Amino acid sequence: MDNYINNILFTYLPHVALAIFTFGIITRLFIGNKTVQAESSQFLADKKVKLGSNLFHVGIIFVFFGHLTLFIPEWLYHMVMTTETKRIIALSMGSLFGIIAIVGMFILVSRRFSSPRIKSNSSFQDYFIIILLLVEAIVGLTAVAQTATGPIESYAALSEWAQAVVTFRPDAGAIIAHHSIQYKIHIVTGLFIFMIFPYTKLMHILVFPFVYVFRSGYQLVRKRV
Ligand code: HEM
Repeated sequence: MDNYINNILFTYLPHVALAIFTFGIITRLFIGNKTVQAESSQFLADKKVKLGSNLFHVGIIFVFFGHLTLFIPEWLYHMVMTTETKRIIALSMGSLFGIIAIVGMFILVSRRFSSPRIKSNSSFQDYFIIILLLVEAIVGLTAVAQTATGPIESYAALSEWAQAVVTFRPDAGAIIAHHSIQYKIHIVTGLFIFMIFPYTKLMHILVFPFVYVFRSGYQLVRKRV
């Protein structure tokens, strides 16, 4: 990838994304608080939605915590394990929970498209978000397949890059300049998800369980169809 584009995408874009994310969260919580909701369709639930939703949420929560390990400095985890051990744990746990989340999303997508009741209550956003997450998770798994077969340095570089971003290192992008396109698509799509997060139903992740509990009661009114 061209140096210039690589720098824009992997040195600067993460900061732009985080700025939009933070601004969006603050404004949405303080100004548009009452508009924050999961847009759940559970009131139209069947057995499929319970299974799909449970698999998706369990999988994605573990995948999320797996991503946080990108920020653990090498000197810290070397106190208890080698980079190779960390890679084995990341690969096995990541694949297991990644696949669980993907199976759940497939069930949720198929239900959105096949159930007439759900279809008539679905917005563009409902389709867009679930398909975006599904594509992101599939690309993530293909990246994991690369990690399984690639050199250990290339795996360690992923953490180094994430830590370089949050410590404002101006050469962050160069660290993963030679990584394969799967990682790059996954990261750019992930940053895109960060940017739209505060303006979509994804926002319910952050408010639950805090703001739901503390905000005053209100009534949801269904729009006329
Ligand atoms: C900017 C945000 C993101 C970054 C920097 C990022 C980075 C990564 C990296 C480096 C891997 C490969 C890990 C390895 O090879 O061990 C990965 C895997 C994966 N990512 Fe992401 N990711 C981001 C957002 C997301 C989002 C929003 C999702 C939600 C669908 C997601 C789902 C996955 C899955 C399912 C895997 C494979 C399983 C796993 O390793 O946990 N990622 N991600």
